[in-house]
Amino acid sequence: MKPLVLVTRRLPLASLSHLESVCEVDLYTKNEAMSPDALKRRVHDKDGLVCLMTDQVDCAVIKAGSNLRIIANVAVGHDNIDVSCARSRGVIVTNTPDVLTEAVADLTVGLILTISRRIVEGDRLIRSGSWAGWSLDFMLGMELHGKQCGIIGAGRIGRAVALRAKAFGMRVVFAKHGDYKSNHFIQALNTSDNETWLSLDKLLKTSDVVSLHVPLTERTKHLINRQALMQMKQTAYLINVSRGSVVDEEALAWALNSKLIAGAALDVYEREPSVHPDLVGLETVVLSPHLGSGTRETRSAMANLAVANTISVLSGKPPLTPITT
Ligand code: GLV
Repeated sequence: MKPLVLVTRRLPLASLSHLESVCEVDLYTKNEAMSPDALKRRVHDKDGLVCLMTDQVDCAVIKAGSNLRIIANVAVGHDNIDVSCARSRGVIVTNTPDVLTEAVADLTVGLILTISRRIVEGDRLIRSGSWAGWSLDFMLGMELHGKQCGIIGAGRIGRAVALRAKAFGMRVVFAKHGDYKSNHFIQALNTSDNETWLSLDKLLKTSDVVSLHVPLTERTKHLINRQALMQMKQTAYLINVSRGSVVDEEALAWALNSKLIAGAALDVYEREPSVHPDLVGLETVVLSPHLGSGTRETRSAMANLAVANTISVLSGKPPLTPITT
């Protein structure tokens, strides 16, 4: 008998067909996240679960899936899954690292350029019919060349952003923040040449662009709060493509309204798809709807990897990209 797998959203056809060639697939076809009750109901007889970051896979869901052997998240972030509960029940959890690094780094640079060169603001002005024409001091932005890009989170994506920032002539610094004592950070520290590591405070105080690339954990929730924002330069921009709750949106709206920083560009939000109403009204914010990994190529690769993980585990082989933290 083929193993049973619940898939919580339509996947690209090629990935789905691959999964169906090995497993019996129960596909949820609505274009919205399954309710916790529906998830519990449908996972109860399944050997595998392929889910999205919008699915809340808490301990109750994991316990309801008493046959589960794998939970394959189609995302690199896994704050939507109770990984320690899964581990305690012998369920493997996988994510989709690497395949989305370049797409997310590209979007980060897009947001840096968009906010620092006021592209969306200019677009709005033209569409409103109020552009009076070119002049020497009109809608001036900040040049990136020679400025400091402070990266918080020196994992794959943070490092891919660093490469791009360097290509723009920026000086790149990384933060030694709370998680920096983890193996990952120690490795990064030992193996990297010519890298500058600053305390979080120093990075915030001296950077012209502060870009967030940390996972959401207890330690990074509201890492950027009033206190952190108060340390930033008045001319600096904050970029968030990680998880919404790394930034206290209320504090950010306050900082922008008080002109404590020059602007922010956000791709992720505390309560998606809601965005803090005070942010929506501000000219100094660029808002994109969680598009970090949103290219056709990357989303297909993410689905392929989640399916490959599922097939591997359900065939008795090790997962390709298990979550080990
Ligand atoms: C998207 O946000 C992801 O974590 O893959």
